[in-house]
Order: sequence, then C-alpha cells, then structure tokens
Amino acid sequence: MRIIGTGSALPEKVVTNDMLAGFLDTSDNWITTRTGIRTRRLLSTETLRELALEAAKKAIASSGLTPADIDYLICSNVANSYVSPSLGSIILGQLGCCCPTFDMNGACAGLVYSLDVADAFLKTGRARNILVVAAEQPSRFCDWHDRSTSVLFGDGASALVVTGGEGFFDFRLTGNTHTDVMYYKRSLEPTPYDRVEERTQPLVMEGREVFRLAVESCIEDVDVLLERNGLKGEDIDLFLLHQANMRIIECIRQHLEQPKEKFPTNIQKYGNTSSASVGILIDELSRAGVLKEGATILISTFGGGFVTAAALLKWSEILYGKEA
Ligand code: ACO
Repeated sequence: MRIIGTGSALPEKVVTNDMLAGFLDTSDNWITTRTGIRTRRLLSTETLRELALEAAKKAIASSGLTPADIDYLICSNVANSYVSPSLGSIILGQLGCCCPTFDMNGACAGLVYSLDVADAFLKTGRARNILVVAAEQPSRFCDWHDRSTSVLFGDGASALVVTGGEGFFDFRLTGNTHTDVMYYKRSLEPTPYDRVEERTQPLVMEGREVFRLAVESCIEDVDVLLERNGLKGEDIDLFLLHQANMRIIECIRQHLEQPKEKFPTNIQKYGNTSSASVGILIDELSRAGVLKEGATILISTFGGGFVTAAALLKWSEILYGKEA
C-alpha cells in the first residue's frame, strides 16, 4: 500500500493560551512548558462534517483520482453529534463517492488503525483505492471548567488516499484494557427494563498515567518495528509521532538518540487533534516538500483504551499539480 493523496482542514478560530487563561486558572507558561502547545484551532462557526469534507476533497484532488475511483471510505472518528449514521455515511454523498463506508474508533490511534485495515483490504483485492479520513472534535469531549484536560486539545481533520504499491512495509498495533485512565462517557436513552441512570461524563484523564503508558508503549512499538525489519534509529529519515504532548515526543526521541530535526511537530499550532493529528502532519510536510521520494518514515500513535498503532513506510512523492 502507498499514499497517493493527502489533505487536511482546520477550523478558522485560533485560540491562544492567554485566551484560555482569561477564564481558566492556567497560564501560557504552564501550558507551553508542560505540553508545547501555544495555540489550537477550535470549531465555532464550521461543523466537523465540513472539515472532514474539505480534507477528503483535497486528498482526492491530489491523488489524481476522481471520487468515482474511490471504492472504500474508512472514517476515523471518536465521537460527533451523530451516533448513527456514521460520519463516513454523512460525507459520502457530498464527496460524490458511492462505496461502502464505516467509522473506526481507534481513539487517537484511529488513523493508523484505519490504514492497517485499508492495507488488508488492498492485499485481499477487496478494494483498489481507499479514502481514509480522520475527523475529530475533542474540544467537545472536555469539561471547559477542567484546566487539566481542556487546554490540551484542538479540532481538525486529515485524509489520505491509499492504493496498492510499494510503501507501507510493516505495522504494529496493540490493545490493552486501561479504560479508567482516560474516558468520555455519553448517556444512553432509558428503556422500560433498564433504568440505570446514565449521565454524560466529560473527558476524565489521569494525565501522568497516560503519559507513562504513552511513552512506554510507543517506545516498545518503535523498538519492535525497527528490530524486526533489521533497522536502527539512524536508518529512519523521519519519525511522525502522535501530537499529544511535546514532552512525550521528547522522551521517545531521547530513547532513540536521534536528532530533533527527525521529529517534526505541529502540536505548537494545533494541540492534540486526536486521530487527525498525524494525518495533518503528513499533509503539511508532504505539501511543503519535506517528505522526499524514498524517505523511510516511522509513524507512531497512541490513544485511549489503551491502544497503540505504528507503521513503517517508504514515501512516494506527491506532486500536488506541480510539474515532475
Ligand atoms: N494550568 C495550570 N496548572 C495546571 C493545569 C493547567 N492547565 N493542569 C493541571 N495543573 C496543575 C495540577 O493541578 C497540579 O497542581 P498541584 O501540583 O498543585 O497538584 C500540577 O499542575 C501538576 O499536574 P500534573 O497533572 O502532575 O502535571 P503533568 O506534568 O503531568 O502535566 C499533562 C499534565 C500535560 C496532562 C501530562 O500529564 C500529559 O500530557 N499527559 C498525557 C496526556 C495525553 O497525552 N492525553 C491524550 C492521550 S490520547 C489522545 O491523544 C486522546
């Protein structure tokens, strides 16, 4: 499988740390030093569906395919205002695609989970061209009186078009039940038989424990992928890591003893956009010409569950309408 198109979309509204300090007991200094985040984009006048559509349209346009060529749409999303239909179903028609679709909830690792599924579909011949969209509004999971969670997140969408070819050459996915360290619970309707009172519980997170799990499990993924492919840290051109906290990225970098330039980030601008994050990074770097033909890239992500998903690939340059 290889990536032949990329796209991303972000809300217009830029929210600085100082703006948050206007109504939360926090400061630009605390947020910057503990997380690396300086601003985030938050949905205000737009909708998540519009972001997902914009990212998907850009990805299809850059792939050189038409919407009719897409024969599967996998949409990574943790939650939006619709439980059903899926976000994939909601955007399919406006995209002009007519193909099977489903939503994937792999938390913040959902984009790489989706890519793993796409890889299997392509290998078995179930599809030829797959559109993977990751669209998230984690700002709406948080209690905006809770300074320990609301400052961390931003909204955004990313999309990748994948097809058969020489690109991805290994994946590693893991799952463990650690549901108490991070969860967002939505209420269900009562029935005449089950009247257990349910209440929406905005995001609960044990930050330090999530931090520890993230560092330990991502390091394990990275080490396993390198070892079983006979590679060392120095053989990797770029490490594209889930943009959740600059200090988590730094711990992984120090373990690998690789230079900072190999760990591009955009968390400073966008905060943690959940499963959209690594796709936004890929789109920005690809369009900026940073992802060179043949570059070896290691992607590593993690999310609530606790789940992780990592992948190794060789990059094929995308031209975005420029001459070869
Ligand atoms: N502003 C000011 N002070 C704050 C804030 C804030 N926004 N939030 C917490 N504090 C305070 C705490 O109350 C605490 O005060 P105390 O010492 O008086 O008790 C102090 O800062 C330290 O709190 P800690 O939680 O220990 O701070 P820590 O250094 O661990 O940083 C953080 C917190 C940034 C949440 C860190 O633990 C982290 O990044 N964890 C991982 C989070 C993550 O990645 N989540 C997403 C995972 S999956 C996904 O992407 C959906």
